[in-house]
Amino acid sequence: MHQIEIDHLNKHYGGFHALKDINIAIEQGSFVALVGPSGCGKSTLLRTLAGLEKTSSGDVRIAGQSVIGKPPRERDVAMVFQSYALYPHMDVEHNMNYSMRLNRRPKEEIAERTRTAAETLGLGSLLDRLPKALSGGQRQRVAMGRAIVRNPKVFLFDEPLSNLDAALRVHMRSEIRKLHERLNATSVYVTHDQVEAMTMADHVVVMRAGVVEQQGSPLDLYDRPANRFVAGFIGSPAMNFLPAAAASNGALVLDNDGTQQIGLNRGVAPGRQLWIGMRPEHLSLKPGANDMALDATVTGIESTGSMTFVVLEVASQPVVLAHSGRPETRNGDQVRLHISMDNLHLFDRETQLAV
Ligand SMILES: Nc1ncnc2c1ncn2[C@@H]1O[C@H](COP(=O)(O)OP(=O)(O)OP(=O)(O)O)[C@@H](O)[C@H]1O
Ligand SMILES: [Mg+2]
Repeated sequence: MHQIEIDHLNKHYGGFHALKDINIAIEQGSFVALVGPSGCGKSTLLRTLAGLEKTSSGDVRIAGQSVIGKPPRERDVAMVFQSYALYPHMDVEHNMNYSMRLNRRPKEEIAERTRTAAETLGLGSLLDRLPKALSGGQRQRVAMGRAIVRNPKVFLFDEPLSNLDAALRVHMRSEIRKLHERLNATSVYVTHDQVEAMTMADHVVVMRAGVVEQQGSPLDLYDRPANRFVAGFIGSPAMNFLPAAAASNGALVLDNDGTQQIGLNRGVAPGRQLWIGMRPEHLSLKPGANDMALDATVTGIESTGSMTFVVLEVASQPVVLAHSGRPETRNGDQVRLHISMDNLHLFDRETQLAV
């Protein structure tokens, strides 16, 4: 049985259709990331799971039971927000067990659960500190502690790391993932950062404008994006797209440059307009196995030290190539751009769907 089933879920805010026929099944113990651009409906979906938003139609089941109409406290879920406002006048211990005290749980139970949660989170020695005497990462852990003490079936995270600096984010990512495994929890994690989604989750749901564009394992989405949007959203730096049309001999002829072609035998109907999708890491300035080459001009070189991103112009379109190490090329160089044919993606320009 699935721990969470979202079944033909719709949500309207007045005349605005915020969630459109959402279907997601989440297994017990899995870590699911909801990812997509700002305003696509991630928080709305999470809040409907928590019971903080009413649904318009469709069903949400947790452990087999419909939770439609049930208030948040009857859903056995705990939510961790981006703005983890802790009570400034309460120490760590009292911040963590506030909800249990509010619900008048027995004293021994409160003490025991607070102690276990603090140990799990490495906060044992900080229980009598006030929030102002904690680092950002420690505060974030207290916020997670508040969720853990409730011992919920499901954890819901809404961009919990966006207030932290880059290094701490990376550290907390793996902390949350380890915690998820230790608690044998089911987690739904909202982020607009596709790298965070890819590195943390077993199952990634890509949303846009209230619609699920594609869902699957991280590598599934990377290897087999269903449409141009997912192809461009997953992967960093983003996939390159060149407009082209299929010729009668089966080759793809680049727009803006009738002379450059990619020979291809995929039975694309002549005249069909396509996007050729190429990931930066599948491009090279040196020949490789099963590749095709195009003429290109180097227009920029960006080095991070370990990686170099070479910006090229191909048929008047910008293309980024990722090179591990330091290529021997300079701005303005005329080069041959080698494309690994095994990793080429094609999308229909009308439907945007993968061909
Ligand atoms: N209470 C509301 N009334 C009307 N529209 C709303 C309400 N809450 C959210 N929306 C709209 O619903 C859409 C989805 O909002 P939501 O907060 O779910 O986006 P999001 O994906 O979480 O974005 P972000 O990454 O910026 O947090 C947005 O267009 C937003 O303006
Ligand atoms: Mg949001």
